[in-house]
Amino acid sequence: MTTDTQPRAQWLGRWGFVLAATGSAVGLGNIWKFPYITGEYGGGAFVLVYLACILAVGIPVMMTEIAFGRRGRGSPVDALRRVVKESGSGSAWSLLGWLAMLCGFMILCFYAVVAGWSFSYLWKMLTGAFAGATGDDMVGIFVANNENPLNLGFWSTLVVVATMLIVGKGVQAGIERCVTWMMPGMVVMLAILIAYGAFSGGFGEAWRFLFSFNAGSLSSEGMLAALGHAFFTLSLASGAILTYGSYLPARASIARTTLSVAAADTVVALMAGLAIFPIIFANGMSPGEGPGLIFMSLPLAFQAMPLGTLFGILFFMMLSMAALTSSISMVEATVSWLSDSKGVSRRTAAWGTGIVLWLISTLAMLSFNVGADWTLVGRTVFDWLDYLTARWMMPLGGLGVALLAGFVLKNEPMREELGVPPGWYALWLFAVRYLAPLGILVIFADALGIARIEFGLHWPWLLGALVLITLVGELASPRLRRALMG
Ligand code: PHE
Repeated sequence: MTTDTQPRAQWLGRWGFVLAATGSAVGLGNIWKFPYITGEYGGGAFVLVYLACILAVGIPVMMTEIAFGRRGRGSPVDALRRVVKESGSGSAWSLLGWLAMLCGFMILCFYAVVAGWSFSYLWKMLTGAFAGATGDDMVGIFVANNENPLNLGFWSTLVVVATMLIVGKGVQAGIERCVTWMMPGMVVMLAILIAYGAFSGGFGEAWRFLFSFNAGSLSSEGMLAALGHAFFTLSLASGAILTYGSYLPARASIARTTLSVAAADTVVALMAGLAIFPIIFANGMSPGEGPGLIFMSLPLAFQAMPLGTLFGILFFMMLSMAALTSSISMVEATVSWLSDSKGVSRRTAAWGTGIVLWLISTLAMLSFNVGADWTLVGRTVFDWLDYLTARWMMPLGGLGVALLAGFVLKNEPMREELGVPPGWYALWLFAVRYLAPLGILVIFADALGIARIEFGLHWPWLLGALVLITLVGELASPRLRRALMG
């Protein structure tokens, strides 16, 4: 395979990549999942580990994935094969591309169901279905919405069809055109909602819940969840960012774009927390409500506020758009792989992918009604898809990407792609070689019960170990020192 001979689509506008990647990153993960898992794992300590994971693992891995995409100019499978080949390394590493592509696809299989909730709630808001409902009624409405497979299936099917329609149109005419008007729209809606929420009380308690760090309150499960969520929310190790990066023009700065995407994503998640928890506390609800959290609490609050219906409509419109701009990025890898290297037209690739996707997402949808007890070790199809991707496939894929970039590939291609000054390059190299892999391994060791980490107690040891391992690693190989010297 030659490297870069076939013409490949690129983002048309200057903002194409940033809008699309932010659209991918900001999604249900920020507004639906972040608040409810923060609630489940007890607040501040979870938030702190999550932020540390974004900084130490997420950002370096995102830079690496964009660099892989742009260097390899292809779907994850093709791009990785080329990148690895250029450095003369073993082709087994390109399995990472398969893992990522599969992961993005599996995520969409359950994501479509949650996005379907969002669209159905938008419809309910529009048709006044919440008028006069109490807290108990809200639970009833959520349950009823799930109970009928035809109803729920209609909405998840709608999401699959909309996603495939956009992706089928191509990178510029489909994805870029869609994010160019959806993203600014979302920002405006979010700003209005936050201004509105700031005046609705309960803010102080929410702030304390999110930001007061209570050492020892986080379980191993919680740490693994924080790590997995950092990957999920930044759309890493799932082929999304890598494939979008493959359309990035050569002159764009990878470091700068990564920082803006990661910052926007984090700000939206924290803002969603600050918008949602005040309502939950003010209404005496429990933050550990699980996946139904925002669907049961927010309509209740909107209903009691002046102009609530209008803001409710705005909220679910924003959530649905956020979900859609993420959904399209999850299948772009598969569709681009089929159309680039399997000679299938883009439209056929999109609909072919869509049919398989629809079948599996329907199975996931049934987990909420007729298939509620089709379980394996206590998990439904929906739960398995979520659990396998977020807790295992993404962290392991991210570990692979970091190790590949840090130890296996040659220096020059990566340095060229990243194009940052030597000091920053050394920092990136330190992150992908030691910081990210050790962070991921420590959290895994903890979750598997091999070693138990306790906050406050163990961190000096962890830090010491990191320094020691870095020193030994660098003595064994002179690459970082060379990098430092420019
Ligand atoms: N980042 C998206 C969100 O937070 C989810 C996502 C995961 C998108 C993986 C693409 C790939 O909702």
